[in-house]
Amino acid sequence: MITATETKLPRINMPLPGPKAKEVIEYDKKFISPSLFREYPLVAHRGYGAIIEDPDGNTFLDFAAGIAVCSTGHCHPHVVQAIQKQAAELIHIAGTDFYHRHMPQLAERLVATMPKSHHYKVFFGNSGTEAVEGAIKLARYATRRDKLIAFYGCFHGRTLGSLSLTASKNTQRKYFGTLLGGVEHIPFPYAYRCALGHTKETCGGEIIELLEEQILKRLFAPEEVAAIIVEPIQGEGGFIPAPAFFLQELQRICNKHGIMLILDEVQSGVGRTGKMWAYDHAGITPDIVLTAKGIGSGMPISAFIAKESVMQWKPGSHGTTYGGNPVCIASAMATLDLIEGGLMANAQKMGEYIFGKINDWPSRFKIVGDVRGKGLMIGVEIVRDQRTKEKAPDLRDKVIVGAFHRGLLTLESGENSIRISPPLIIDEEQADCAIRIMEESIREAEKSL
Ligand SMILES: Cc1ncc(COP(=O)(O)O)c(C=O)c1O
Repeated sequence: MITATETKLPRINMPLPGPKAKEVIEYDKKFISPSLFREYPLVAHRGYGAIIEDPDGNTFLDFAAGIAVCSTGHCHPHVVQAIQKQAAELIHIAGTDFYHRHMPQLAERLVATMPKSHHYKVFFGNSGTEAVEGAIKLARYATRRDKLIAFYGCFHGRTLGSLSLTASKNTQRKYFGTLLGGVEHIPFPYAYRCALGHTKETCGGEIIELLEEQILKRLFAPEEVAAIIVEPIQGEGGFIPAPAFFLQELQRICNKHGIMLILDEVQSGVGRTGKMWAYDHAGITPDIVLTAKGIGSGMPISAFIAKESVMQWKPGSHGTTYGGNPVCIASAMATLDLIEGGLMANAQKMGEYIFGKINDWPSRFKIVGDVRGKGLMIGVEIVRDQRTKEKAPDLRDKVIVGAFHRGLLTLESGENSIRISPPLIIDEEQADCAIRIMEESIREAEKSL
């Protein structure tokens, strides 16, 4: 519902950042850790639907959604109402020490989204990295093994355990010293850059062979490996989907050796790809699934969902003060109402709509190398030369910054890709507007070739 003071489309009234936005940026510089990376000077004042308004009254179409978090859009009335109602009733009690009905209620709904062949149980946390940390601990506890296998390009978080898995950008690891031992990384199937020329459906067979014939024979005995952790679509790595067969092969190897298969759905989950979980496209049955971001519509909540046979640890072995906070759960319950009540279907529909209009970008624009993804998780890879596929992070940045100045928010992903991850509520008019702005920004960036 748009009120009289609201809009569905961007409106930029001045050169950016405006005077009030500038004030906030200066204020921030004085007090906030410089480790945060802001790609362009957006200052958010309020949000509604797919719109962010800055303090100077400029409105932006948000195709970043707070890093794929605001799945239901900004401040969806159903979510806001649920948060307000719960905040007036019970804000916190510490589920690690006491019972409250909210945790099993949300857990039951999450378990209902899992494969029916197994019963699953849930542990709630506050952030994606916490879900990863908990999953590492659970996999080690359940298997009594400690080795972990992850993928180049993956991002699983920035705390020391999850950072040991993360292999996205070396600035994320530099100077942080020795991380967890016993972690091995292997390549992720990346069809656009596949040395063997495989397609998006077939890329990765040689990685499976590497895993079975080299890693599990020469480095780690399979009976020492606790888990393989994988993003079904690499998020920070460039919005790169793993082919279905690849995930199925990982499942086969894990089943064969009693290794836990952990699906990190922190960015790809909760309806964004047109199914509840991106791994649903491959029809597999993971041992542990991680969720955060889109599940809470902006409230800090995460969970790992594990087969009951796996989640057998003793009381006291894992806990948290805030995880499963009733207000965050209220937000997640309302989010699921909306996702299951139509937004997941809209993500599928709008994803197809957008792909239908941008799939041919590589033939229309010299600097677009690849367009890929599923549903509303769409990556656009920018190159200097389509023939050599030379990565062009500078041109990518120009496109993103150009889009910002025209009123569209997107984010970078990987070395040279743009991520398009709008709220799942967008309609055709908003998609058309975003596509038009992207095309103008690409055209402008091309001029500097
Ligand atoms: C796939 C994936 N896992 C884990 C994380 C870490 O989540 P958080 O930033 O909430 O700790 C992220 C964050 O971008 C992510 O994309």
